[in-house]
Amino acid sequence: TGPDTVSPTGQPTGAEQARMAQSGSHLTNAQGTRLYDTDHSLKAGPRGPVLLQDHHLREKVMHFDHERIPERVVHARGAGAHGVFRSYGTAADVTKAAFLAEDVETPVFVRFSTVLGSRGSSDTVRDTRGFATKFYTSEGVFDLVGNNIPVFFIQDAIKFPDVIHAGKPHPDREIPQAQSAHDTFWDFVTLHTEATHHTLWNMSDRGIPRSYRTMEGFGVHTFRLVDAEGRTTLVKFHWKPKLGVHSLVWEEAQIINGVDPDFHRRDLADAIEAGAYPEWEFGIQTFPDTPDQTFEGIDLLDPTNIVPEELAPVQPIGLLTLNRNPSNFFAETEQVAFHVGHLVPGIDITDDPLLAGRLFSYLDTQITRLGGPNFPQLPINRPHAPVNDMLRDGMHQTAVHRGTAPYRPNSLDGGCPFTPGASADSASLDGAYVETPVRVPEATKVREAPESFDDHFSQPRRFWLSMSPPEREHIIGAYTFELAKCYEQAIRERALQVLANVDPELCAGVAAGLGLPAPEPTVPLADVEPSPALSQIGHTWPTD
Ligand code: HEM
Repeated sequence: TGPDTVSPTGQPTGAEQARMAQSGSHLTNAQGTRLYDTDHSLKAGPRGPVLLQDHHLREKVMHFDHERIPERVVHARGAGAHGVFRSYGTAADVTKAAFLAEDVETPVFVRFSTVLGSRGSSDTVRDTRGFATKFYTSEGVFDLVGNNIPVFFIQDAIKFPDVIHAGKPHPDREIPQAQSAHDTFWDFVTLHTEATHHTLWNMSDRGIPRSYRTMEGFGVHTFRLVDAEGRTTLVKFHWKPKLGVHSLVWEEAQIINGVDPDFHRRDLADAIEAGAYPEWEFGIQTFPDTPDQTFEGIDLLDPTNIVPEELAPVQPIGLLTLNRNPSNFFAETEQVAFHVGHLVPGIDITDDPLLAGRLFSYLDTQITRLGGPNFPQLPINRPHAPVNDMLRDGMHQTAVHRGTAPYRPNSLDGGCPFTPGASADSASLDGAYVETPVRVPEATKVREAPESFDDHFSQPRRFWLSMSPPEREHIIGAYTFELAKCYEQAIRERALQVLANVDPELCAGVAAGLGLPAPEPTVPLADVEPSPALSQIGHTWPTD
């Protein structure tokens, strides 16, 4: 698939290996011409002016001037690792995805991240963590682009620019760098109350993980699995750390921020180097694919909802082991490009409106960040399955494609497996990604959310009720600290109103900390059962 620097077996040739290693007996310029000195500019005499004709100086500085690429618009700070995913085969009855068949091993690359801080920010801030996994499967790349929190701030991707504008530093002073303690964040999450659940998780111990190795991961959205017979099952994806779920306490996080801002990435790299390979079990919650796509009254298309594990247990389907550190941060951790639309046969999407926007956004953003449409050719992004696309040319194209007819079907290049006039014959469906023929109900075009998206408080209430006493104390402390940093009193008061609608004890604790009266709820308090699995103390994983 690649340029002539790749041998027929796909390995780089000797000359290409030397170029990548930047090794050899003598230094050259980018064109391979040998240099004798790279420490002195060409001058008119040792103390004279530097000459514009110094082409080596010009090339060296020009390249340096362009070393930086834009950081990710979100999740800019991250740490990555290579590993392997071994399937248990237990999902084979619900999906035909080959990498989930029994005893199959698939290479993976995982990138963990914070969301709001810039590339150089600290690791132990209070924030959501990204948990993105690239599976290089035999049927193409599958990306699971998830977080360590199972719900999201918004229900519709059209609000994503807004929630991120609110969460990033204020545009006038560029502060605060990476904390949620600011007016725009609290303004947004109290005006858009669907954010209450995610915010509560952020204010809990989950917002300050002890290590990437002790975080859960979640696919967040409901996906659709498809088996070999075309039968479908709705599913939520989970990563369960073998080391258990652990967090820092706030004071530890603050001290570590100062003492070692690289705490999480150092911990990950050191553990792998020491052979203490971090492991996660991959699990699924499954739900019948009913026309209304709800389970026990929970709307599965609303990404602010979880399904309690007591109602739908997480079934283990495989093991992820991270066992190799990147050798080049830029080439691997920085250039890796995840996309929720990188799917393989057997895994399909649902109509979650947040997921729909993501399907557009991830591809789009790479054009700015990685300089054009050819980012799948970057080594870290290359599929391990054979590629035979008809995509040609473009910025940063490195392949020298062959053939004269880059379209299908054609009758010129010798590859014409199709019946003229038909887009594909039935044989070509074998192993192909075929969209599930889901019936779209007759509908009128509207810009509105379904009524089932209106309940913003019962799931946060379940989370609060599931917490142990120390976890509750930490949550009250976190809200108090963060809200105390707001300049606007009206925002603090609105936040208290939101908390009153979740739970009076939570609201009273934060109100006392802020020295403000606790308001009465404006909605009836939801009658929900706690879910012990939500508490880090009540956490019952791993099972073995
Ligand atoms: C990046 C997760 C919602 C746009 C990321 C990353 C993760 C993630 C883990 C970092 C990937 C990496 O390490 O390279 C999520 C989750 C979401 C969500 C779990 C909700 C369930 C959205 C939405 C949008 C969006 C709604 C836009 C409409 C982006 C963009 C990036 C990103 C533009 C940067 C990608 C890059 O530069 O490579 N997201 N995200 N995300 N996300 Fe999301």
